[in-house]
Parts: sequence; C-alpha cells; structure tokens
Amino acid sequence: MKVAAIVGSIRKESYNLKLARYIQNRYQHLFQLDVLNIRDLPYYDQDVESAPPQPVIDFKGQVAAADAVLWVTPEYNSTIPGVMANAIDWLSRGDRVMIGKPSWIVGSSMGLLGSVKAQGHLRDILFASGISSPLLPGNEVYIGLVHEKLNEKGELINEITIKYLDFVANNFMLWMKELSQLKQLESQK
Ligand code: FNR
Repeated sequence: MKVAAIVGSIRKESYNLKLARYIQNRYQHLFQLDVLNIRDLPYYDQDVESAPPQPVIDFKGQVAAADAVLWVTPEYNSTIPGVMANAIDWLSRGDRVMIGKPSWIVGSSMGLLGSVKAQGHLRDILFASGISSPLLPGNEVYIGLVHEKLNEKGELINEITIKYLDFVANNFMLWMKELSQLKQLESQK
C-alpha cells in the first residue's frame, strides 16, 4: 500500500519531517510512505489552475497515485502552516485528486499541546467539498514537547509515544482494509 506524506514544514531540521521519516521507517512492513515535496509549489493562483506549473502537476500526480495521505502538521499561530494550506488549495481544484482518498493526521509541536488546534482546523478542511477525504476516526496523535522526544538521529525515544503510534498505525491499516472491503461490496451491487 502506498501512502503519501504531506508535511507542513519545509525547514531542513523540521521535527514533523523527522516524525514522517520515523513513521516511514518504522512501518515499512505495513505501507510504503513517500514524503512529498511541497517546497517547490508556487502560491495557489486561480489564473493558472487549468494549466498549472510542473511542480503542481507532479505533486497532484503523486497524491493521485497514493492509496491514502498522511498529514503531518506543525502548528503555526494556532492553525496549520501556510505551506500546508497552499498545498491543499492546489489539491482542491481541477481534478480534485483528494476526493474519496482516505487521510490520517499526526502532528507535533514544541508546545505542550502537540498541534491540537492545527489538527482541529485540518480536520474541518479535509471535509471541505473540494477535498472530501474520509478521515481515520479517533486515533488522534498529538506529540507535544517534540524536541524532547526525538533524538539526534530523528528517532522517537518516548516509549509511551512509540506504543501509541504503533497502535494507531495498526488501526489505520485495519480501517484501510475495511474501506477496501466496502468498496468491493459497492462494486458488486
Ligand atoms: C510556532 N510554534 C507554535 N507552537 C505551538 O504549539 N502553537 C503555535 O501556535 C505555534 N505557533 C508558531 C508560529 C510560528 C510562525 C512558528 C515558526 C512556530 C512553534 C512550533 O511548534 C515549532 O517551531 C515547531 O518546531 C515547528 O514545527 P517543525 O518545523 O519543527 O516541524
């Protein structure tokens, strides 16, 4: 199974990027996680959306080819970062590649609450008509004080967090299986 990761931070040492890489490595027996490049996306511009620049075409193609999307979000000023909102705006227009594609959200911040406000907003946005993504119910992952929970190699070192992430990754797989069984039943009608 192919999962596309959209990380809401473009800085090299991003904790959320490290978290995405950790998930990629730890659950490689469950799914193939590809971390997508959103750094090269221009600002969303309705004037060019019918013939978008190449980075947009590539990005949307990668999302379209994935079975699901993992959103890995920091929190900026109590919401999602602009780079993530920009990526979502591109995805929501034209061929609207997110419609019906399952999503899973995780996030971290250096504060105590681990991106809880950003994730609340992101959930609402994923239900907007141009995105309409079914979201893994429950299983919310808020990693606060992330700078104390990742070592210099980018590995999680907090046992409770690791166990919880294992539990959620497993639930994500079960949910994906249920969704595909439902799809199969629908197609037999
Ligand atoms: C932050 N940070 C932050 N943290 C938080 O818990 N709630 C918030 O509202 C904000 N707001 C905020 C705004 C801006 C502009 C910046 C740059 C930072 C701190 C944030 O959690 C921290 O910088 C993380 O390290 C950002 O994630 P990455 O880049 O490490 O993935």
